[in-house]
Amino acid sequence: MADVIPEIANRRARRAFANRPVPGELLDALWEAAGLAPSHGNTQPARILVARDPVVRERLFAACSPGNRNWAGAAPVLAAVCSDSDQETPQTNSDGTTRDLGAFCAGIVLGNVLAQATGSGLIVHPMAGFDEPAVRAAFEAPANVRVHVVIAIGFEGDPMQLPEDLRAKETAPQVRLPADIFVAEDRWTARNATTWRQYRDSLPGGRT
Ligand SMILES: Cc1cc2nc3c(=O)[nH]c(=O)nc-3n(C[C@H](O)[C@H](O)[C@H](O)COP(=O)(O)O)c2cc1C
Repeated sequence: MADVIPEIANRRARRAFANRPVPGELLDALWEAAGLAPSHGNTQPARILVARDPVVRERLFAACSPGNRNWAGAAPVLAAVCSDSDQETPQTNSDGTTRDLGAFCAGIVLGNVLAQATGSGLIVHPMAGFDEPAVRAAFEAPANVRVHVVIAIGFEGDPMQLPEDLRAKETAPQVRLPADIFVAEDRWTARNATTWRQYRDSLPGGRT
């Protein structure tokens, strides 16, 4: 990974969090990095809802899937990365279909947050396992707020604190698709349709 910047190369979605609060200035820097993300026409539709009040945090935690509740409670900070669909300016295609960019912009915001966190020595673990209406209710957010991920933020902890099934996952290397699958030059080919599972199972030794 010699050519990849450390803020990207060293990031992992860890689940073990240290029992250590996140200093306010590091959290503020995450939000500042988020605010620097590009968006179409600079519309900035992404919103980050941060649970500060213990009651709100408990509601947000309860909105997470049972699998995520197995570990996310140890994170000192929980938040949700959202977008405001009222602020959508959909792009129209020649066939009349439209493209909403709110989720896309929120994804770029998350990328900035992940890079800033890694550079600051923090872990930010995104979660798609949550109930969207319950997250909205936790923050008293209206229906036009789309919740894309809940994030658990903190410092890396000891994997031994995790339930056994998660412990091995914590440090296992991740199988990543090679560029010739996810980069198509000039035309889409059957190779580009290879799924992550197909690729993983094709490796010597099969599943890792
Ligand atoms: C949009 C998104 C949703 C995710 N949802 C969950 C989740 O609900 N629970 C979980 O434990 N990890 C979740 N993850 C973390 C992924 O499992 C993890 O990023 C992936 O396995 C690659 O591992 P790495 O991030 O350590 O490289 C999510 C990641 C992303 C980007």
